[in-house]
Amino acid sequence: PAPGWTTTADVVVVGSGIAGLTAALRLRGQVGKILVVTKDVLAAGSTQWAQGGIAAALGPGDTPAEHLVDTLVAGAGACDRDAVEVLVTEGPDAVRELIALGTNFDHDPNGELSLTREGGHHRDRIAHAGGDATGAEIQRALIAAIAQTPEIEVIQHALAVDLLLADDGGVAGLTLHVMGEGQRDGVGAVLCRAVVLASGGLGQVFAQTTNPSVSTGDGMAVALRAGAVLRDLEFVQFHPTVMYLGADSRGQQPLISEAVRGEGGFLVDWDGDRLMQGVHELGDLAPRDVVAKAITRRMDETGKPHLWLDARHLGRAFWERRFPTILATCRRHGVDPVTDLIPVAPACHYASGGVRTDLWGRSNVPGLYATGEVACSGVHGANRLASNSLLEGLVFSRRIATVLPEELRPLRPPAPDTRTAGLVPGEVRRELQEVMTARAGVLRSADGLADGLGHLDKLAGVAAESVDQESWETTNLLTISTALADAAALREETRGSHWREDFPERDDARFAGHLDVVMRDGAS
Ligand code: SIN
Repeated sequence: PAPGWTTTADVVVVGSGIAGLTAALRLRGQVGKILVVTKDVLAAGSTQWAQGGIAAALGPGDTPAEHLVDTLVAGAGACDRDAVEVLVTEGPDAVRELIALGTNFDHDPNGELSLTREGGHHRDRIAHAGGDATGAEIQRALIAAIAQTPEIEVIQHALAVDLLLADDGGVAGLTLHVMGEGQRDGVGAVLCRAVVLASGGLGQVFAQTTNPSVSTGDGMAVALRAGAVLRDLEFVQFHPTVMYLGADSRGQQPLISEAVRGEGGFLVDWDGDRLMQGVHELGDLAPRDVVAKAITRRMDETGKPHLWLDARHLGRAFWERRFPTILATCRRHGVDPVTDLIPVAPACHYASGGVRTDLWGRSNVPGLYATGEVACSGVHGANRLASNSLLEGLVFSRRIATVLPEELRPLRPPAPDTRTAGLVPGEVRRELQEVMTARAGVLRSADGLADGLGHLDKLAGVAAESVDQESWETTNLLTISTALADAAALREETRGSHWREDFPERDDARFAGHLDVVMRDGAS
C-alpha cells in the first residue's frame, strides 16, 4: 500500500536489543537525526531473555587467543578467523564499556567480576547479571541510556516492511507499518541515508523455540528482498536444554541456561544414566551441537519425548541466589529443580547465519548495515559458542558506528518499487512451523527437505485477504524458511548445528565453505 505518511532521518536503526541500542548510542552526535524503530516495545526482543551471560576474556589468566580457539572449535571449521579475532580482541573493552554505561554485572565476595563457564569454553569467561537475568539487566541499562538521549527518536510498534532503494540499488529509506502511535499510524515511509538492521533472529520459523514471538526473521527477509546476500542460513542452533512442556506446547519455551550445567548440573536419561559421560572430553559442557545431538539420539533410541537435567544437588540457597529466574519459571510449570529433575529437550535457539556483512557490518547493499543475530559476520561458523551472541552485537555495532558516519550517502529519492512479493495469511503460520520442525529441524535429509520445500511452495500459493502485521510476519517466515531449507539441502554433510541423516559425518572434502543465498526469481 502507498505510504500514508513520510518522515526523514539520517540513520534508521531497526531493532532495540543490545545490537540496535548500542549502534544508536554510539552513532549519537555523529550523524544527525537517528531514528530507532522496533516492532513491539523497546524490551521485547531476544536480548531481554538472555540468561547465561556475555563471554569475554576478562578473567585472570584468560586471553583473547584462548577465547578465539574455543570459538573456532565450536564453529566446526566454518568461522571467519579474522571476524573472530575482532570479536575476542575488542570484546573485553566492549564489556567494560557496558559496565561504564551502568550495567550491574554480578561480582564475587572480593569485588571481582564473577565469571562462569558454559559449553565449549575451557575457562570461566561468562559475565552475568542478576544471577541468570543478564539480558534483562543489559536491556535495562541500554534503555535507561536511550531515555537520557533526546536526540535519538524511538518509534515503537513499528514493523519494518521493506527497504526503499535508490536508482543505484542503495538505501533510500524504508517503509514501516506502525500501530497505535498517534500521527504516525499505519503504513509510512522514512527517507534516510543509511539503515542499520539489528532486528534479531528467526526462531519462530520452528514450532518450539527459546525466542520471543517477535523473532520472525523480518530483518533477513527485508534484506533479501532488497538484494542483500544472506549467508549460512542452514546453521540454526538448537539449544540442548529447553524445558519440555508437553507435545502440544508451541512458540516460546523456557530456556534452562547452560550455566546450570556450568555450575554442576548434568543430563540423565529415563534410566537415570548420565548422558554425556564418555561422549566428549568436556562432558556436560561439550559444545551445544554435541549435547543437542546426544539428547536427540537418546530420545530417538528410547522413544521418549525428552530427557532430564539433574541439578538438585546445587541446593535451595544456591538455586535462589544463582538462578532465580529459572527457578521461578520451573516452579510456575510445576517442577521444583531443588527436589525434581527438569524435563528438557532441544529447541530452536539461534540463527548463526543471516545478512552477510564484512568486518565493519556492511552488507552488499550500499547504505545497509547489519549487526547482532540478523547478521552473519562470520564469527559463529556452523555453531555459535555459548554467550558469544550478546558480544557479537556489542562489538560489531561499535564497529558500524566507527565507519558509518564517514560513509553516509546523500538523501536520494526512492526508485519505483517493481518487486512482486505476494503476501500469505497469518493462518498458514502454524503449518509452516510444523513443516520446518519436521523437515528442516534438528535432523535433516535430502528427501525430507525436498518434501518440506514442496510443502512451503504450496503455502506460498495461499493469498492473504488482508494486509496486516500477521500477514507480513508470516510472509517473512515463509521467505526465510524457503531460503533456509534450500541452503540446508545444498550442504551435503553434517557440520556443527547442521545435521544431515543422509550425510552423517563431517566431511572436510565436501565442505562447501559459506553458502550465500539471494532472492529466488525476485519474489518471496
Ligand atoms: C544459555 O544461557 O544457555 C544461553 C546462552 C547462549 O545462548 O549463548
